[in-house]
Amino acid sequence: MKLKNPLDTHLHLRDESMLALVAPFSAKDFKAGVIMPNLITPLTEIDVLKAYKERILKACKNEDFTPLMTLFFKDYDEQFLEKAKDELFAIKLYPAGITTNSDNGISSFDIEKLKPTLITMSELNIPLLVHGETNDFVMDREANFAKIYEKLAKNFPKLKIVMEHITTKVLCDLLKDYENLYATITLHHLMITLDDVVGGKMDPHLFCKPIAKRYEDKDALCELAFSGYEKAMFGSDSAPHPLHTKECCGCAAGVFSAPVILPVLVELFEKHSNETNLQKFISDNACKIHNLKFEKDKIVILEKQEWQVAQKYGDVVPFMAGKTLNFKVAN
Ligand code: DOR
Ligand code: ZN
Repeated sequence: MKLKNPLDTHLHLRDESMLALVAPFSAKDFKAGVIMPNLITPLTEIDVLKAYKERILKACKNEDFTPLMTLFFKDYDEQFLEKAKDELFAIKLYPAGITTNSDNGISSFDIEKLKPTLITMSELNIPLLVHGETNDFVMDREANFAKIYEKLAKNFPKLKIVMEHITTKVLCDLLKDYENLYATITLHHLMITLDDVVGGKMDPHLFCKPIAKRYEDKDALCELAFSGYEKAMFGSDSAPHPLHTKECCGCAAGVFSAPVILPVLVELFEKHSNETNLQKFISDNACKIHNLKFEKDKIVILEKQEWQVAQKYGDVVPFMAGKTLNFKVAN
């Protein structure tokens, strides 16, 4: 099977030795990735963003891979955004403290307060990517954020708003109600529910934010992805954490899926959908939504071949560790 220009529209590459370890997986299999800005010091400055992009390109060696860079949301003035826009793919908004390295996120969704930055982003056509969770009971956090998405969508009709890593049926439905709402869906949320995380023996390597939900939620996500629905894009949220920060009390949130994404997706779509819809989900929908064009196409070939996922890459445990997969990305 061939995939044209696979895109990962939500990717954590970290920095330094972790960047060096994880970037080659995405760079080999994908044409481009939307790089998350939640480094230990969040990315809020253009020079810092450009330097980070250089480090990413270096870590990707000579692979044909484009890092699409994002800034961490805060109040940015028009002058700054005018200058920044050519270096930027989007701006990512985190509610304060909701997940890894998000303490500097926003603590109020007061529209008047957000207005100057969001209006300028609409005018400059800079998409807003949102980690949509409130501080409520963990299983309700995303569904309760729906009202904030609605407020944003109504108040900023020209703003492209991406609901990141959706996990609930509520948001699958909301996606269809507002023209300017889009969504990314991870691989793991197409495959697991809360049962897999804590239903039996607890699996810290499946603990992530938003937490995996109920079967009916997973089914709604699968329905969007497998039908190739045009407003849903693949975004892995591949989020590596060293083993000692996962297998401990106070486990960090994140699933490291980068090494297995395409083989697992191909198998899922072969079983539940078809190649055309996989191409839409993995690339075409995002290209249309974000008006992405590439000078040169990257064709990624997947061969039917059994291989076993490593138990660890460096000191990071991957999604599907030790499992046998039936497709392999050709070298
Ligand atoms: O599980 C997650 N891990 N969810 C996020 O939103 C952030 C990510 C990370 O950076 O580790
Ligand atoms: Zn993320």
